Amino acid sequence: AASLKGRDFLALADFKPEEIRWLIDLAIELKRKSKAGEVYQPLKGKTLGMIFEKSSTRTRVSFEVGMYQLGGYALFLSRNDLQLGRGETISDTAQTMSRYLDGIMIRTYAHRTVIELARTATIPVINGLTDYAHPCQALADYQTILEHKGRLEGLKIAYIGDGNNMVHSLLVGAAKLGLHMSVASPEGYEPDAELIRQMQETCSETGASIRVVREPREAIEDADVVYTDVWASMGFEAEQEERAKAFARYQVNEELVQYAKPDFVFMHCLPAHRGEEVSPGVIDGKHSIVFDEAENRLHAQKAIMAAIMA
Ligand code: CP
Ligand code: NVA
Repeated sequence: AASLKGRDFLALADFKPEEIRWLIDLAIELKRKSKAGEVYQPLKGKTLGMIFEKSSTRTRVSFEVGMYQLGGYALFLSRNDLQLGRGETISDTAQTMSRYLDGIMIRTYAHRTVIELARTATIPVINGLTDYAHPCQALADYQTILEHKGRLEGLKIAYIGDGNNMVHSLLVGAAKLGLHMSVASPEGYEPDAELIRQMQETCSETGASIRVVREPREAIEDADVVYTDVWASMGFEAEQEERAKAFARYQVNEELVQYAKPDFVFMHCLPAHRGEEVSPGVIDGKHSIVFDEAENRLHAQKAIMAAIMA
């Protein structure tokens, strides 16, 4: 898959199952190298611009450190410091940045902003989260699941909560990598229906399956992996109160996880809200692998950058 050179990384849907699997294997190999103290710098002399229109801890730090470890340099560019914040177009920003940089990572609101940036830039663009998708996180998550469970195909993953960017990218990954995924969301907060339809088609080719149900208890039954995310994502803060009501029955807690497999792992992309989508006992308990998951952002994104930018 040296063929990933020059590609954008906007959504897992743009990649074949074997390409995703190859990126995960590369991430595991780069993690091994890094733990062994081996220097690996395929991006020496290269630069990555990182545009942030939303807050970030993990994405910002892991991309910046990852680029440094690969021999390159990363620039942190917040929306308000760029002319973008004063109305310069995405297209002019993309064309200008393409003259200086070797890659752009962007975290923004509308997914079409990332598509437009990638369409007008002449260098690879990486999606660092939109309202629609979070593919870097999902790649790191499937790497983490593979490391903990020794396989991906045939595993059952349950997602309890908001039908947001996170569940969209996890659904695409499950469909492409052969997992069985159940999602439980309250009425009006289900994942995107068109994405579900497309992924059902993918499932028929890969042997994966996807189910969207109403009851958390139904989704979590016999799950190998239990996943949740915040009830109000970035940009939806104003809905916090009404969402807290709608999601009241959707907390992942000690009572609910009894119905998962005895050796289930708990995952959350973070940041988490203890006492809302997850109880402290679950996220801080022995089944939780949330910090392995956070660590793998670094390794997975190094794999992405090495594959598309080297
Ligand atoms: N999971 C994740 O993307 O975290 P940040 O918002 O801290 O980058
Ligand atoms: N769904 C969350 C994920 C944060 C990493 C959000 O978009 O805010």
